[in-house]
Amino acid sequence: MSPANRNAGTFIPPAPDKIRLNRNDPCWCGSGRKYKVCHERMDEKIEAIRLAGHIVPGHIQIKNAEQIEGIRESSKLNIAVLDEISKRICEGMTTQQIDDIVYEMTNDMGGIPAPLNYEGFPKSVCTSLNDEVCHGIPSDKIVLRDGDIINVDCSTIYKGYFSDSSRMFCIGNVSEEKKRLVAVAKECMEKGIEAVKPWMFLGDMADAVNSHAKANGYTIVREIGGHGVGIEFHEEPWVSYVTRPGTEMLMVPGMVFTIEPMVNMGKADIYTDEENGWTVYTRDGKPSAQWEVTLAVTEDGCEILTY
Ligand code: MF3
Ligand code: CO
Repeated sequence: MSPANRNAGTFIPPAPDKIRLNRNDPCWCGSGRKYKVCHERMDEKIEAIRLAGHIVPGHIQIKNAEQIEGIRESSKLNIAVLDEISKRICEGMTTQQIDDIVYEMTNDMGGIPAPLNYEGFPKSVCTSLNDEVCHGIPSDKIVLRDGDIINVDCSTIYKGYFSDSSRMFCIGNVSEEKKRLVAVAKECMEKGIEAVKPWMFLGDMADAVNSHAKANGYTIVREIGGHGVGIEFHEEPWVSYVTRPGTEMLMVPGMVFTIEPMVNMGKADIYTDEENGWTVYTRDGKPSAQWEVTLAVTEDGCEILTY
């Protein structure tokens, strides 16, 4: 029995949108087309799945073509910045220098680094080294050393649209075990991407990610996940990578969210730096790796926007 069947009749998640349109009204998505030729059939399909007991997206989660184009353009800046970092990152560099590149390059292209002043975050990018899981704060005191692994997490606002992606970099001679962690973390993200299909569930994607981490002897961080993105930096849904197949939100065309699992070499447990309130570390001090993409669900799979 699937979780959906088990829930049916006992708990039906509330409808996210209550407004009912007439068929000849302009569609709620802002496309300018009549509702009956735009999203009406999709709404009916989503409603049937909701009545079967599933969590479904609201209209706010479904972007129209113009919005996706805006996020696509923002993503171009986002990856251009990471491409530049990948050319220049090296031993002896400080994480502040990475921040400077992100700040200057994003501004030069007419964008804004989304992390800067976001909920008090003091810098333009997150730089997380070795046992730092995420949200590392760039500093002129942190120097990249031979053997380090580092995640550079770049989030960009362009013409009001948000994009978000991150990559790992290996500095100098990195141990085989850390290299393997970095490679498997990338594969975990790719397995997740492959599992993004309309009318499947975020839990199906999560299970693809988590199974691959487990098969390699690694763990996935539970408390921090991905998120809807595009109109805001962090939108619903919150995206876990440790949930079960057939659970969590239904994926439908037009949803835009991130896949960004944090993969730990040791145990999954984490803690947050009490002094800066941001940097997250592995509890056991073992390394952690993360890759991130922003993607849009399409009619037959997904489009990776930050490639
Ligand atoms: N870029 C992170 C993410 O993937 C968010 C960082 S919030 C910040 O969601 F304030 F630390 F930048
Ligand atoms: Co993100």
